[in-house]
Amino acid sequence: MIVRSVLITGGNGNLGHLLADRFENTGIRVISYDIVEPQRPVPSRNIILGDIRDTDKLRTIFEKERPEAVVHLAGVLSGSSEADPMAAWEINATASVKLMQMAEAHNVGPFVFSSTVASYGPEVPAELPAETPQWPQNVYGATKIATERMGNWMKTKRGFDFRCLRFPMVISPFAPPGAVTAYPGHACLAAKSGKPFAFPVKAETGMSTLYLMDVVRSLEEFTLCEKSCVKQPAYNLHAYHFTAGMLAQTLENRFPGAKFTFDPQEPADSMIANWPDIIQDTHAREDWGWRHRYDFNDTIDALLETIN
Ligand SMILES: NC(=O)c1ccc[n+]([C@@H]2O[C@H](COP(=O)([O-])OP(=O)(O)OC[C@H]3O[C@@H](n4cnc5c(N)ncnc54)[C@H](O)[C@@H]3O)[C@@H](O)[C@H]2O)c1
Repeated sequence: MIVRSVLITGGNGNLGHLLADRFENTGIRVISYDIVEPQRPVPSRNIILGDIRDTDKLRTIFEKERPEAVVHLAGVLSGSSEADPMAAWEINATASVKLMQMAEAHNVGPFVFSSTVASYGPEVPAELPAETPQWPQNVYGATKIATERMGNWMKTKRGFDFRCLRFPMVISPFAPPGAVTAYPGHACLAAKSGKPFAFPVKAETGMSTLYLMDVVRSLEEFTLCEKSCVKQPAYNLHAYHFTAGMLAQTLENRFPGAKFTFDPQEPADSMIANWPDIIQDTHAREDWGWRHRYDFNDTIDALLETIN
């Protein structure tokens, strides 16, 4: 579908700034809204600083900037959500619902929302069917489901063009040092620089994974696909099963002499071990043509190339 302008909330974040690059490269005008400054200077981009809870400011953006689509990435991530559940609810759930209402009032769609497989509970099968009930034991997952459900209600009852992707673990060379899932990048850096590295999880601990660039591309393609292709309330995405042991072995082969140990830390180890290994993503592949481009080895190549 033709989209000429898009409002990206959380547009200065890990996924948001790369997605903005992709849209701009295809001539789509980006309005980036975030509470923090961009990680790198982007003088040509329309960047508006503000809180996602500031409805007045957002209304002005809809009125003045007239975006044709929204990709809603602003949010509090898992660790911060558990640390302050009430703030997480306000930002991830309440503000998301208000943003959807505002988009609908201004006739804006598609509205793309980024959810997570953390919205499933811990007792899920290792190979997760799409129809598995979502009963998370974490606030982060609960806030994401709340938005999923309201978005789908607005879609089915009122025709709002709500679209939702659920991401598994995302491996990123730019993950913040404190992120639970930052250790693959740290292990690559240690191997490259000849330093020892202790994985914060067991060798066999792993889960369904996507590489950052596939995530960003999926958001772009999903935003631009025709409304008629979006047949599911939400789409799970999957590329490969990743374990710490697989990474250690691969790096040892490429960097003989690399020294890895496993020093499992909680809650990281249990959290990752409880997430599914394989996530069925047939609906995404069939309905709107989702294909991952980075398998395990491509991811390691990309990490080693990017991380210095
Ligand atoms: N990266 C992953 O592993 C992953 C997996 C599943 C889902 N997601 C979801 O994708 C989205 C983007 O993730 P990311 O990895 O880019 O995270 P990120 O933390 O890099 O980006 C989120 C952005 O939201 C902004 N933000 C936070 N609170 C805000 C507020 N009150 N007002 C305005 N902006 C605010 C942050 O400043 C940040 O730039 C998030 O909603 C996240 O829940 C990410």
